Amino acid sequence: MCGIVGFIGKEEAAPILLDGLSRLEYRGYDSAGLAVYGEDNGVRVVKTKGRLQALFDLTQGGATLHGAVGLGHTRWATHGEPSDVNSHPHVSERGRFVVVHNGIIENYAELREFLQRKGVRFASQTDSEVVAQLLEYHYREDFLEAVRKTLGQLRGAYALGILCADAPDKLVAVRKDSPLVLGHGDDFQMLASDVTAVIKYTREVTYLDNGELAIITAQGFQVYDSYFQPVEKERHHVDWEISAAEKGGYEHFMAKEIMEQPEAFRKTVFPRIRDGRVVLDDLCFDRDYLGKLDKIYIIACGSSYHVGMVAKYNFERLLRKPVEVALASEFRYSEPIVTKSTLALVISQSGETIDTLTAMREAKRLGARVLSIVNVVGSSIARESDDVLYTWAGPEIAVATTKAYSTQMALTYLIALYFADLMQTISREEYSEVVSELLLVPTKLEQILAQRDSVQYFASLYFNQPSIFFIGRNIDYAIGLEGSLKLKEISYIHSEAYAAGELKHGTISLIEPGTLVVALASYGPLFEKMMSNIVEVKSRGADVVGLTVESRVEGIHRIADHVMEVPDTHPMLLPSLDVVPLQLFAYYIALQRGCDIDKPRNLAKSVTVE
Ligand code: AGP
Repeated sequence: MCGIVGFIGKEEAAPILLDGLSRLEYRGYDSAGLAVYGEDNGVRVVKTKGRLQALFDLTQGGATLHGAVGLGHTRWATHGEPSDVNSHPHVSERGRFVVVHNGIIENYAELREFLQRKGVRFASQTDSEVVAQLLEYHYREDFLEAVRKTLGQLRGAYALGILCADAPDKLVAVRKDSPLVLGHGDDFQMLASDVTAVIKYTREVTYLDNGELAIITAQGFQVYDSYFQPVEKERHHVDWEISAAEKGGYEHFMAKEIMEQPEAFRKTVFPRIRDGRVVLDDLCFDRDYLGKLDKIYIIACGSSYHVGMVAKYNFERLLRKPVEVALASEFRYSEPIVTKSTLALVISQSGETIDTLTAMREAKRLGARVLSIVNVVGSSIARESDDVLYTWAGPEIAVATTKAYSTQMALTYLIALYFADLMQTISREEYSEVVSELLLVPTKLEQILAQRDSVQYFASLYFNQPSIFFIGRNIDYAIGLEGSLKLKEISYIHSEAYAAGELKHGTISLIEPGTLVVALASYGPLFEKMMSNIVEVKSRGADVVGLTVESRVEGIHRIADHVMEVPDTHPMLLPSLDVVPLQLFAYYIALQRGCDIDKPRNLAKSVTVE
């Protein structure tokens, strides 16, 4: 979703803003713009529909805009089509206020009407422009008073960057439900939607909390709470390298991130296993609390939800407690049954997905204890959870998640083992077996990745399919959901994932000669049943690409047209291995089809609107 960058210092702002925006491209956008204040020219704004390259060309890489303070924005359209005029920054009618916004101003229609009645003329169809116009309306030669009065009238979610031409020695940043981070240099300050935009210039950052406002000058900053009282903020040092957010020789971030999975898994899991035991230092659950749990609610969206779908099987088998997996966007409005004895496990790579964040708040309000799995340190979900476990996947730039999914999955295994151990619902033998197998997963992932050419070959056979089905049972079904989503997201091929046994209750009518079915058959206990389901689709003319473990390859080879294989492992860890050929399959198909793999159409990395 929209990306914000701001800079105030001594250097020319425009090239820095463009560089920052290029690092936020992954969030998904359809237009981009810059506003720079220079002593000679006042505020100059350049904005355009389309890719950042267009803005780069229009400003000759920023060289045509002079001044050491400015704001940049990439827009993901919500209110008003993608167009030059709807792009940000928005400027008030008299040209005094410049605003960039991420989020939605929910009461924009009534504010717009109010301002129009006062004679204000709007240039765009956006909700965001009302902020700039409202600031101008309230301005009586006091920038901050105008901000204060404006904020008092806004409803909705917003991260704002504001520049006032009458006070160009400062920027104002405001955060409500949409993320913002400040970056601190010796003689400059920055603001951005996330740290990737500032990391090239500084590693010293401050995360704004909900409701906070910051006044930023070249020399420093002051943060205020929602009552405009000064607050002291903790500074953070970002310890990952800028190279982590660059392609490093790969054609796409997605390819790089797929290949990084063995290392990401190691980083997430190995430090948490000591002497054969899972050690989650950050958690302090006890047997009594776990014993009294009435339910575990897993709340997430998209791929994170698919992690939850797998976790349900593992948790229920190991803990013998009911587990409900809820789509965050549905949870909040479904009158969920949550009590003080409910544990909400919230899963989110970005930690900023608004559906997940608001569902989490609802679960908390109803009394649940919240444990979250998050990749982005300091994100809203991490900060508002009772307990948080971080995935150490590093920055994930491709819109389609791969390494974040894998590390989230890894943490669900650790949580399942940790709880089962406390509750004494797992045998010593199985506990030790799973822990030993966990330590082998990265090497097995490397083996799978080394054979990626064969997956590329299958992709070359099927990249023109109009529709692809994924079928599986139990955990294989849950992995199929992710394989299907990956394919849809980046290749734009229609796809459905089905519980294999459910196919004959309707969907099998869609199978005709030549239809491609990817059949997941790695889960041992249901292997025979899966073979019958494969025969059912084969008899209707389907082409079948099977996916199974080494020890069962022969069984499936007799029926399927092609087979992808992964090493054997403990059944509960199968998702970590099985998902990789499916990620590669989607990637190579999208590559053959010439799709924009890292930035698929209409999608955003971090979905910060409901
Ligand atoms: C997955 O490839 C998607 N980009 C998407 O489904 C994503 O998993 C979902 O939007 C949830 O995001 P989160 O994990 O950051 O909350």
